Amino acid sequence: MPRILFHDKIISMDSLSEKIVPENLAGEFNKLYGSGKDAVRVFASPARINIIGEHIDYNGGNVFPAAIDRFLYVAVRKRSDTRITYRDVKFPGVYSFNIREGLAYKKENDYANYLNGIVSILKRRGCVFPCGFDVLIGSNIPPAGGISSSSALECGFAYALSEIFGFGISRKDIALIGQQSEHEFMNVKCGIMDQFIIATAKKDTAELLDCATLGFEYVPLVLDDCRFVVMNTQKKRQLTDSKYNERRAQCEQALAILHAAKIPLTSAGKYANTKDIPDLCSLTPKQLDECKSVFPNETIFKRARHCVTENERVGKAADALKAGNLAALGALLKASHASLRDDYEVTGVELDTLADAANAESSCIGARMTGAGFGGCAIALVKNSGTEEFIDSVQRAYVKAIGYEAAFFTCTTADGVREIETARR
Ligand code: GLA
Repeated sequence: MPRILFHDKIISMDSLSEKIVPENLAGEFNKLYGSGKDAVRVFASPARINIIGEHIDYNGGNVFPAAIDRFLYVAVRKRSDTRITYRDVKFPGVYSFNIREGLAYKKENDYANYLNGIVSILKRRGCVFPCGFDVLIGSNIPPAGGISSSSALECGFAYALSEIFGFGISRKDIALIGQQSEHEFMNVKCGIMDQFIIATAKKDTAELLDCATLGFEYVPLVLDDCRFVVMNTQKKRQLTDSKYNERRAQCEQALAILHAAKIPLTSAGKYANTKDIPDLCSLTPKQLDECKSVFPNETIFKRARHCVTENERVGKAADALKAGNLAALGALLKASHASLRDDYEVTGVELDTLADAANAESSCIGARMTGAGFGGCAIALVKNSGTEEFIDSVQRAYVKAIGYEAAFFTCTTADGVREIETARR
């Protein structure tokens, strides 16, 4: 029987005592729901880091994420009636609905909204639920931490339902269902990166994903004597969703300006006129520079500039990794952070402090924020041998500047969402 081993080192406020172990989750499920005629099945859905390619998945760009060994577990069992019940080991409350009712977003339903969102999208896609089910969630992914706890929930749950009811939904569609639910039910106009990597990841690789076509390539994540350290600002995130939607709207505005201006482009690129570009990332940085004068304000131009330069960095980063050139990868991570700070303005003092403190350490090859920003997490590529001192120094600098601790953990890569075998009692 395969076991999930937790070998990441947890330091600071991220306490080991809170770890969810999937074998215990099935036992806990039986305690809470009693025994039933069907087996309790347990699914593991990973968190992700994005190595590079930030805020360009909704601009037709390439992104370079990897799933990591932090998991959210979904334990689920069919019922003989039509009720659906949700519980979470770490959050109080029991949410109960009827599979036959129309499920709408309700603030008081808290995390259950993510689950109801998935159920309602599945129903809309024609999936028929012959009965209800009970669910118990247990997560080792920090909530609202920028490493995709919500996508892990959406994809883990959608995959679990597909498996137990035999819907046979492809991994790509699991990702699209998760994204659709986030758009329509949760009103966050996210890109596809998080759901896609969680649905399709392969251990020991990062995924180079073309968000315009959803074509992708697994690139072996060979880090020699280095590893990624995840650094959580532990900032209470507020208004993140509305700021995220605002950035997306600014990119749409930039694209509309370029379409309307119909600028012939002289430097080389895929398109010869801005009226034809399907998305911002179809332009090269040089081509965008040619268009600078049509932007009515600097902010919208800067948003577009981040997109085109970041897209270029992703290609270079994948090449650097393939060539085993970690120093080049590190430099690109630093440049990405600077662009997210200065042009896209989604970092903030907490993430800047972490990235700057990390980049000042000699053991660090490169660090940057990861995910949506405005708080959440940063990642640093660090020499194995210097990891402990690295964490100590960055923590000291962070506490001095911010006044409270960050949380740190090292990670390895993981497979995408899957069922795990537990004793099915
Ligand atoms: C969030 C979104 C993703 C992506 C990142 C920023 O994680 O869910 O789609 O846009 O922010 O790169």
